[in-house]
Amino acid sequence: MENASIYIHIPFCSDKCIYCDFYSLTKSEHLIDDFVSMLCTEIDLTCKKNETKPLIKTIFVGGGTPSLLTSKQLEKIIKKINKNFNIDNLKEFTLEANPGEFEINKMKEFKSLGINRLSFGVQSLNDKTLKNLTRWHSKSECISSFNNARKAGFCNINIDLIFGVPQQLNTDWKNDLKEVIKLNPEHISAYSLTVERKTKLYNLVKAGRIVMPDEESDIEKFQTAIQTLTEAGYQHYEISNYSKFNRECYHNMQHWHRNPCYAFGPSSHGFLNSKRYWNVSNIKDYMKSISLNELPIENEEILTNENIFNEIIINGLRLRTGIVINKIQNDYSSKTFQNFKKKTLDLHKYIEVDESCVKLNKDGIMIADQISLELMSCFNE
Ligand SMILES: C[S@@+](CC[C@H](N)C(=O)[O-])C[C@H]1O[C@@H](n2cnc3c(N)ncnc32)[C@H](O)[C@@H]1O
Ligand code: SF4
Repeated sequence: MENASIYIHIPFCSDKCIYCDFYSLTKSEHLIDDFVSMLCTEIDLTCKKNETKPLIKTIFVGGGTPSLLTSKQLEKIIKKINKNFNIDNLKEFTLEANPGEFEINKMKEFKSLGINRLSFGVQSLNDKTLKNLTRWHSKSECISSFNNARKAGFCNINIDLIFGVPQQLNTDWKNDLKEVIKLNPEHISAYSLTVERKTKLYNLVKAGRIVMPDEESDIEKFQTAIQTLTEAGYQHYEISNYSKFNRECYHNMQHWHRNPCYAFGPSSHGFLNSKRYWNVSNIKDYMKSISLNELPIENEEILTNENIFNEIIINGLRLRTGIVINKIQNDYSSKTFQNFKKKTLDLHKYIEVDESCVKLNKDGIMIADQISLELMSCFNE
């Protein structure tokens, strides 16, 4: 299998942020050793029928907070991956880390184990915004963690930022961006704060105790991000992602290009043999399945032609490279292609069409979801 990737979900955090709906347990560090053993068994179970070791291009250890792992625990996982996969030509090995919770010595050890990219959940460099997000690290801890990562030898670092936080002014957001640019990371992800169901934030908004910013100010902050970051030399290569030249996140690119992905850990999502599958989002159920030598898969979805078409439209529109026209012409019915061509003409105010690609222009990018829906309606068997 060419160009496959691996995602590993580490479901532990020191505390729970009010806005986060990713699966993670708090104050459960005592479970990590057992979890790592189960994760290793899950990798063995997944690969036991393989005759050759699948070739892996990228690994992403996400969470939760993978920087809570000890070097020994991470080494155990990597040894297990190495036993079951061919990682000789690994292009990128990312680990997510929380600022203020990642000592420089551990950073050095992780680097010597093969991690070559760090993704820091900075979120903001304004102490008031951090407090409103219920983050427990300060601006100065973010900066010192970042500088320590440089000292430890990491030359590929991402910083995650969140905008659209209650009480955050556009000037606060501009300052966040300026402060981050001063740090000079290779990659920046800037997400608009989403109110997810089953989070504390959702309940607080519903009860009227927190008021979310309106759509207009969200759009303003998105435009501020695009302008400030592109002026600073970052390429806006995907709706929420900006990078220096040649420093795109290859792992995410694998996902957007619909390449295969092995997924390990509770709540992780994988994509193998044209099937999307996802693991149970409960550590007890996860451990129980594996201890019975069963994969902890909650469910799977075999993609129909229409599902695949929709994924190509959604992912293509997110990317600066756009939707490859040949792909629609060659892989779908002539009716679908005719519909697609007509729709792109109708939507000329929001998209750019060149000889090979269809992509969103600066107005279209603000309403990407609407344009996706319009183009998805072109599918015809
Ligand atoms: C699941 S977190 C894991 C990384 C790490 N634990 C952290 O918090 O920094 C990955 C990223 O998702 C983003 N994120 C999580 N929940 C979000 C939400 N409700 N809205 C926008 N971004 C969110 C944050 O920027 C975060 O850094
Ligand atoms: S945002 Fe990160 S640190 Fe906060 S709860 Fe989610 S995974 Fe944990």
